[in-house]
Amino acid sequence: MSIAIRYFSKFGHTEKMVGIITELTGVKAETVAVPLTEPVDTLYLGSGVLLGKVNGAVVDFIKTLKPEQVKMVICFGSCAIIKSPVPQMRQLLEAQGITVSTQEFTCKGSMGPLHAGHPNAKDMEDFKKFVQSTL
Ligand SMILES: Cc1cc2nc3c(=O)[nH]c(=O)nc-3n(C[C@H](O)[C@H](O)[C@H](O)COP(=O)(O)O)c2cc1C
Repeated sequence: MSIAIRYFSKFGHTEKMVGIITELTGVKAETVAVPLTEPVDTLYLGSGVLLGKVNGAVVDFIKTLKPEQVKMVICFGSCAIIKSPVPQMRQLLEAQGITVSTQEFTCKGSMGPLHAGHPNAKDMEDFKKFVQSTL
């Protein structure tokens, strides 16, 4: 199964999470600034949220994707106020005709004192179990 990992991380939270995917898959993670060049079976796509939205760089990356290039996307991320960044990514991906896995992961991500310390060790443990369940 071919795998690619792309993420956007303003404060390093998503970056911390992608480290786990790399650890489990041996695949190097790249930011969304790096386009996909090869077809992949599974793309892990992660992001946090700022001002209620995933970053424009994530939106731009998704717009470069084609269904014949990506069999399935697994979305994950963290946030402090809204429920999850995943529905935003899902909507954009599906608008491109891309299959998005029903398996998704969201945890708290700190915003100053709000949810301070998240994603924490437990979040990382949960995320590791999640990634294992997708492999
Ligand atoms: C300045 C700032 C603004 C944020 N704005 C939001 C927001 O509008 N909604 C929300 O749910 N989370 C918000 N967050 C929480 C981030 O989404 C959370 O920290 C996330 O883990 C960031 O992931 P990243 O470091 O990978 O970008 C904000 C955090 C900061 C520091």
